[in-house]
Amino acid sequence: MTRSLVIAVDGPSGSGKSSVSREVARRLGARYLDTGAMYRAATLWFLQHDVDVHDPDQVRLSVGIPLLEMDTDPQQPSIRLDGVDVGSRIREADVTAAVSYVSAVPELRARLVELQRTAVADAIGTGFGIVVEGRDIGRVVLPDADVKIFLTADVDVRAERRHREEVERGSAVDAAGAMSSITDRDAIDTTRAASPLLKAEDAVVIDATELGIEDVVGLILELADARDLRH
Ligand code: DC
Repeated sequence: MTRSLVIAVDGPSGSGKSSVSREVARRLGARYLDTGAMYRAATLWFLQHDVDVHDPDQVRLSVGIPLLEMDTDPQQPSIRLDGVDVGSRIREADVTAAVSYVSAVPELRARLVELQRTAVADAIGTGFGIVVEGRDIGRVVLPDADVKIFLTADVDVRAERRHREEVERGSAVDAAGAMSSITDRDAIDTTRAASPLLKAEDAVVIDATELGIEDVVGLILELADARDLRH
């Protein structure tokens, strides 16, 4: 990469965004930011502090409190909550079940979007490009991103992928549970009033139903190359 490219990758749960984005960042020598992990870490803080995650007023009152720190090295990305590494804890079922409710609260979104833009500015300021993945990156967080991807896949494939990940993590979630977790989150993420999951007009859609991670990584690297050459 000859300059600091900013790549936005949005899409629904289980589309493979994290694996793909991390690998693209690694290959480009760029930074990698998982914004879903930030919503998850904030959710964990609310759960730990007895905030009712279904009550937006309660969530709103404490949005400024959790201290989030992200390391954007794609070889070893990490997230700390109040100084503690919560990278594994935020993937557990209680956080997964609550995160879509919490992330519908506009005040929390505003705070996290600010942190996300700061992380991007830090990367660029130190001479790195960055791959940022989430739900609203191309439309809201980084509307001027150089490359915008909307990565999706059929719901059956996404649920199966999520189930496999859960089994690898030793979780007790079965195939039906993985499917309902995905469809519940799709429903909340796409219908909320604040920054719903929607494709940016200028995003390139990649349907990964029949593609492996390496195929998708290759497509994004081609788009990044083309974009880089135009400058
Ligand atoms: O990508 P993930 O499954 O870790 O994301 C967790 C939740 O966070 C997801 O249900 C929607 C929310 N999210 C969001 O609202 N905006 C983002 N930019 C990233 C995630």
